Amino acid sequence: MKQFTGIADIRECCAGWRRQSLSIALVPTMGFFHEGHVSLMRRAKTLADRVVVSLFVNPIQFGPSEDLAKYPRALDRDRALAEGAGVDALFTPAAAAMYGDGFQTKVVVSGLSQGLCGASRPGHFDGVATVVTKLFHIVAPDVAIFGEKDFQQLAVIRRMVADLDFNLRIVGHPTVREADGLAMSSRNTYLSKEERQAAPCLHRSLTLAQNLARQNGASQKTVTPREIERTVTDFIEENPGFAVEYATVVDRASLAPAGKIDENSLLALAVRVNGRVRLIDNAPLLD
Ligand code: PAF
Repeated sequence: MKQFTGIADIRECCAGWRRQSLSIALVPTMGFFHEGHVSLMRRAKTLADRVVVSLFVNPIQFGPSEDLAKYPRALDRDRALAEGAGVDALFTPAAAAMYGDGFQTKVVVSGLSQGLCGASRPGHFDGVATVVTKLFHIVAPDVAIFGEKDFQQLAVIRRMVADLDFNLRIVGHPTVREADGLAMSSRNTYLSKEERQAAPCLHRSLTLAQNLARQNGASQKTVTPREIERTVTDFIEENPGFAVEYATVVDRASLAPAGKIDENSLLALAVRVNGRVRLIDNAPLLD
């Protein structure tokens, strides 16, 4: 596996592959790899001849009071995991290379970035859309793979790619979970032992919501999106220190709050644990 820090160098490497008619898959990441990242890399290998993984803790997608400084980093371990997954090139640029003096451009996907995580993380999706645009221009991949755990991020990127005519395919990859159901995330390392033990309540609440939604049609009473949101919120908040930031049934395309439950309904969750750790998860209600 090759490693590049310079933009011109990774660009030249990818251009060489294209000259040989080799297709390229990009997996954008912020590092501190877990099985979720590795499964994105393995999926990428099935989709293209060469796999590029970018590892960049993107400063412009963090708010001033967020965890940029303490975001977990483990480059040597990440390098070994990427190599083991068959990645061809790891791109690890410095922030100064990505955002040089005088940088002032921003990509904004206005509507989809507003609600859900966008409401409590103003500017977050502008930072994501901007860095992903840069990575798409640098690598010029045929396909890029993103995890479905960050469902809003995936929707924002799909919209951006359609609106700005990027010539690539976006592939969403299913959330990878721990044995007890907790969605894998680099931020799980922030959880204390007790918090970690309680954290599968997010996944359990998604299952609870799916069971309620599936009863619709089978019984006289129809459960509404708002009832599901209330039930899920109460279920999660039974755990000391767990506060629901949002539990919203949305339409999976528009991300607007759903008026009724149907095949397009998705329950999206964000939960703060003791004000310190923010966990997200989501699941379709009927599948
Ligand atoms: O999902 C992430 O890790 C990041 O938001 C991404 C897509 C790599 C952009 O920095």
